[in-house]
Amino acid sequence: MKAVVYKGTKNVAVEEVPDPTIQSPTDAIVRITTTNICGSDLHMYEGRTSVEEGKVLGHENMGVVEEVGSGVDRLQVGDRVVLPFNIACGTCRNCTQGWTSFCLRSNPTEGMDGAAYGYANMGPYDGGQAEFLRVPWADFNALHLPPGTEHENDFTMLSDIFPTGWHGVELSGMQPGDRVAVFGAGPVGLMAAHSAMLRGASQVFVVDKEPDRLALAEKFGATGIDFSTGDPVEQLMDATHGVGVDRGVEAVGYQAHDPSGEEHPELVLDNLVQVVRATGGIGVVGVYVPQDPGANSELAKEGRIPFQYGQFFTKGQSMGTGQAPVKRYNRQLRDLIITGRANPGLIVSHELTLDEAVDGYERFDNREDGWTKVLLRPGTLG
Ligand SMILES: NC(=O)c1ccc[n+]([C@@H]2O[C@H](COP(=O)([O-])OP(=O)(O)OC[C@H]3O[C@@H](n4cnc5c(N)ncnc54)[C@H](O)[C@@H]3O)[C@@H](O)[C@H]2O)c1
Ligand SMILES: [Zn+2]
Ligand SMILES: [Zn+2]
Repeated sequence: MKAVVYKGTKNVAVEEVPDPTIQSPTDAIVRITTTNICGSDLHMYEGRTSVEEGKVLGHENMGVVEEVGSGVDRLQVGDRVVLPFNIACGTCRNCTQGWTSFCLRSNPTEGMDGAAYGYANMGPYDGGQAEFLRVPWADFNALHLPPGTEHENDFTMLSDIFPTGWHGVELSGMQPGDRVAVFGAGPVGLMAAHSAMLRGASQVFVVDKEPDRLALAEKFGATGIDFSTGDPVEQLMDATHGVGVDRGVEAVGYQAHDPSGEEHPELVLDNLVQVVRATGGIGVVGVYVPQDPGANSELAKEGRIPFQYGQFFTKGQSMGTGQAPVKRYNRQLRDLIITGRANPGLIVSHELTLDEAVDGYERFDNREDGWTKVLLRPGTLG
């Protein structure tokens, strides 16, 4: 089959690789109809992870069940499904408590709990930017979708970014009526803004410097704040009459930068501590890593990020972090899509064939104007 393979820094290729096979009775093989490029893939693409060359990328996958192992009894060939990016066993202590993003059995990497398709340090699993994908513990992991092709661009967001944005809001402790500031208007930040609106925020601000992304934030009913035109903290304090916001969501990650593009991994955490009111909450879904050899400071190379912890403590704020347990939310979010209350597919900017993935990676990585969310279609829909 054809697949997108990591070849080295800023280098992916579409190559012939062996078809995946059933390796355990609880596996299924899914024929991919839609698979997305994610901001998380760019950490690998930019050479900022230890991902091995030859890995098939792609953790945002949906499609149709092609084959099931002898131990699979809920899924059937022909079912339309979306797969959480987390690969989870369903029976360990963390999985049974709803923390599928920290599954204790799926990742053999020393010191790492939780696994994913096609991702650095997240286990030996190939990704779904390919014609077919092997899905471990398939009965547990796959979420059923209505048959057909309707809502394809919305449902594909259930594999990662819509539940991740929702999780960021959940971690912030948001209550109806709260004011929320989301940093980052990439796909994850936009989904956090959409989630906060759906959950009854009185006002949502989204901070970024990319005008096309801020325009999308406004489409979801949020107020855009452009950090290239002035300090975002001052802008947010002015917009809230000096009170600040109740909740903040970090949807940028360790490659946070200033308007000139220089990286400061503590920048957004500092901004959030300053702009969230005392006793408010911060949800961090932007990724931070334990080692970052490509960082520009000695501390950051060891994953040490010296943010304003003193002020964070003094303000009595709380902070939640980590990979999102997609399965905790994807069923409810699916139903919000089906009834028309949620429309995450609004952010889709490009729908490409698998062969066009190389160009797609390059242009998405450059954050070219209008390249917000790229979907790959390895075959025909349905
Ligand atoms: N926790 C999870 O489960 C999970 C899941 C998916 C993605 N992620 C992570 O979430 C983060 C965002 O993902 P994405 O796909 O939206 O990525 P993205 O790279 O497309 O978006 C990041 C955005 O942040 C903006 N930005 C950079 N510096 C900023 C600053 N100082 N202030 C405000 N905005 C700033 C950029 O302009 C960009 O638009 C990434 O770190 C990704 O790895 C986490
Ligand atoms: Zn993703
Ligand atoms: Zn588990």
